[in-house]
Amino acid sequence: MTGANELETPAFVTDEKVLQKDLALLRDVADQASCKLLYSPKASVLSTVLHNIAGQVDGFACSSPFELRLLDQLRRGGQSLHLVSPLIKLETLAAFGGRLDYLTVNSLSQWELLRAGISPNTRVGLRVNPQLSFIRDARYDPCRHQSKLGVPISELTGLAATDRTVPRGITGLHFHNNCEGTNFANLLATARHIENVIPELLHQVQWINIGGGYLFELASDYTDFHAAAAIFREGFGLEVFMEPGAAAVRRSGTIETTVHDIFDSDDTRIAILDTTVNHMSEVFEFQFEPDVLGHIDGGLHSYTLAGCTCLAGDVFGEYSFDKPLTIGSRLKFLNMGAYTMSKAHRFNGVALPTIYGRRPNGSLEKVGADSFDDFARPTGSFNVAVA
Ligand SMILES: Cc1ncc(COP(=O)(O)O)c(C=O)c1O
Repeated sequence: MTGANELETPAFVTDEKVLQKDLALLRDVADQASCKLLYSPKASVLSTVLHNIAGQVDGFACSSPFELRLLDQLRRGGQSLHLVSPLIKLETLAAFGGRLDYLTVNSLSQWELLRAGISPNTRVGLRVNPQLSFIRDARYDPCRHQSKLGVPISELTGLAATDRTVPRGITGLHFHNNCEGTNFANLLATARHIENVIPELLHQVQWINIGGGYLFELASDYTDFHAAAAIFREGFGLEVFMEPGAAAVRRSGTIETTVHDIFDSDDTRIAILDTTVNHMSEVFEFQFEPDVLGHIDGGLHSYTLAGCTCLAGDVFGEYSFDKPLTIGSRLKFLNMGAYTMSKAHRFNGVALPTIYGRRPNGSLEKVGADSFDDFARPTGSFNVAVA
């Protein structure tokens, strides 16, 4: 166990109390709507996270062979293993065989290619692109024009019109078309759209996966969520799966950092931190200013918080505090639990944050630390470096 002031920065800390609270909320919402709750591990595969999640979910919605291997080892009896990806290779099916409970193909051509290699124990679904866009940034919109994700619903309408059957062997449908939704109006609109456009196909399948993309912990009204699930469950007798990622983990993760230098540049005070946008890739991708504990609008002491790499744009933004920062000040970036460690990288050779778990009783445990070997090995330069 480690005392709070012994925490080495940069650090990624998972607060298990917060994690358990958000998981309990998801469990409750899923139960109320009679949905099966899956976790989408792309948001985080930290061991502290997975061990807590394993006690609360009905299964795992993986996107790659590595995720499948990890969750296959971790899952408990009765928890189902799902795979959804634009690329599923025959060797992946061969490696997992009947241990893969559900597989969602992204296209009818993937289905044709894979069908002979799929175990009879695996239930196969088809990803549908509902062609309803809710996300402004096309890079993250699964329903963008010319999308690569799923069979366009207009194409399925044609299928329904000609022979009115889903391809033989397909027993489920899958859609995922939102991101960081804080109410469920878009989910309900999507469910109604699918119900109106392809009712014949919904009558022929047994299950539907309604994806992730909603921050349940920030929502205050779940009526539309229940209504969307009821369309499929009550209207068509389908088993309904949900597969949130961020909602489970976002609030429980913080990045903790130390101020190492402070100086003036043009008309701002720069504070150089021992973290970087490498550790919070989405800050750079989306160009947003992450929440920092202690920041107050109009605070007396203002700084541009900056990362420690050579990238000019490695900055977090302008922040103000009621007390001045000094060298050695500690800062906490909040709501960092999702897509942070899974997207973190070592550009400039900056080590990844040290990983800690804050136990429900408040004690802090060091879970893992990055190392020079971890940095050098994947680049193939390990032998050169030690020569
Ligand atoms: C198919 C699919 N399911 C689930 C998720 C999880 O989404 P979120 O973390 O926004 O809940 C994603 C995220 O990209 C996804 O692509």
